[in-house]
Amino acid sequence: MSTQSITDLVNGQQSGFSLQQCFYTEPAVFDREIERIFLKAWHYACHASQIPEVGDYVLFEMAGESVVIVRTKNGAMSALVNVCRHRGSRVCLEPSGRRKLLVCPYHGWTYELDGALRTARYTREGFNSGNYGLKTVRVRVFHGMIFINLDPDAVPFDLIEQDLDDRLRPYRLANAKVAAQRTYPIDANWKLAVENYTECYHCRIAHPEYSKAHSLAIPERRTGELQEAIDARSAGVGLSTEYFSHSFDPNRPVGLDTEYQRYPLFDGYQTGSKDGRPVAPLLGDLSGYDSGATDLHIGPMTFFLAYCDHVVVYHFSPITVSSCSCTITWLVNAEATEGIDYEIEDLVWLWDVTTLADKKIIENNQAGVVSRFYEPGPYTEMEELTQRFAEWYLAVMR
Ligand code: FES
Ligand code: FE
Repeated sequence: MSTQSITDLVNGQQSGFSLQQCFYTEPAVFDREIERIFLKAWHYACHASQIPEVGDYVLFEMAGESVVIVRTKNGAMSALVNVCRHRGSRVCLEPSGRRKLLVCPYHGWTYELDGALRTARYTREGFNSGNYGLKTVRVRVFHGMIFINLDPDAVPFDLIEQDLDDRLRPYRLANAKVAAQRTYPIDANWKLAVENYTECYHCRIAHPEYSKAHSLAIPERRTGELQEAIDARSAGVGLSTEYFSHSFDPNRPVGLDTEYQRYPLFDGYQTGSKDGRPVAPLLGDLSGYDSGATDLHIGPMTFFLAYCDHVVVYHFSPITVSSCSCTITWLVNAEATEGIDYEIEDLVWLWDVTTLADKKIIENNQAGVVSRFYEPGPYTEMEELTQRFAEWYLAVMR
């Protein structure tokens, strides 16, 4: 498919309607998405608490690329492209581990933790090891969360920091830890997963567990009174409820999306749990439960749900044109002890059951959009952000 034909497809898209089939099925479209979206965006990779000691690493994998996030000797973080500078083998194979040096399993080239090449056997005269360090990508630690960007000319993270630094401070996420992490493979194009995440039109039907507790699911029950009550309570525990959204904004460079919204939970719910009761100790500086949930975006593929006692981080990764995955990380206060202060199954219950339901409906959606009978349908009032995503996507692809 030529560059011109992708542009023609974009121009032929009807506004206010879901995307045409080819955007979900065409390999050439997928290739352009990788170049224009994934390789440009800031992505949540891991939390600093996952690599506490020098030499600890985790792999971040997306769209066929692999990056080694490793803590270096001075306690800083490196993000190294996991491609050996000899003949291109993956260097680190395990998803996480601890290494003094990074040794390529093929011919043994050995790299320092900052990626510098330390030894390579039988190289020819004139070989300059200084030219063969592992490539690095941009890395930014923000409130203990490690974000990376695979673009050598990455847009600076600063705009994200400006938007969200104050809002995140009360949670003290640098003093949080990963209690659980799960990856859900989804047999569907990545956009169907993001479209699903950006609307709650489906929530009441697909997510009874979520809808029982979260007012985002039922707009007519998210009354002015309920919102005023949460505004007051949130201020009382040290959180802002002032909404803003720069997500999928065509006037921003790709990859700098931010959104912040604190919305009320229904009566009886202090947090996102089965019975509404806390599932972990309070985070950071929070002085109590305001019975709210914060919806937060950083970049186009990372979404957060922050309760007073835990934070759920969602990251979507494309794999092929018809498959993707969603990795969920549950963060709790670093002082909390599993088995005493929290139980993993109670903590993950809501977003595990909700994500398994989403996986199913997204895969059903994939089966339908590849049908010869599929044609784009109209977005509703409850899909405003999804429509914004689609319009932003088309502008980026144009
Ligand atoms: Fe890594 Fe040869 S490919 S040492
Ligand atoms: Fe959902």
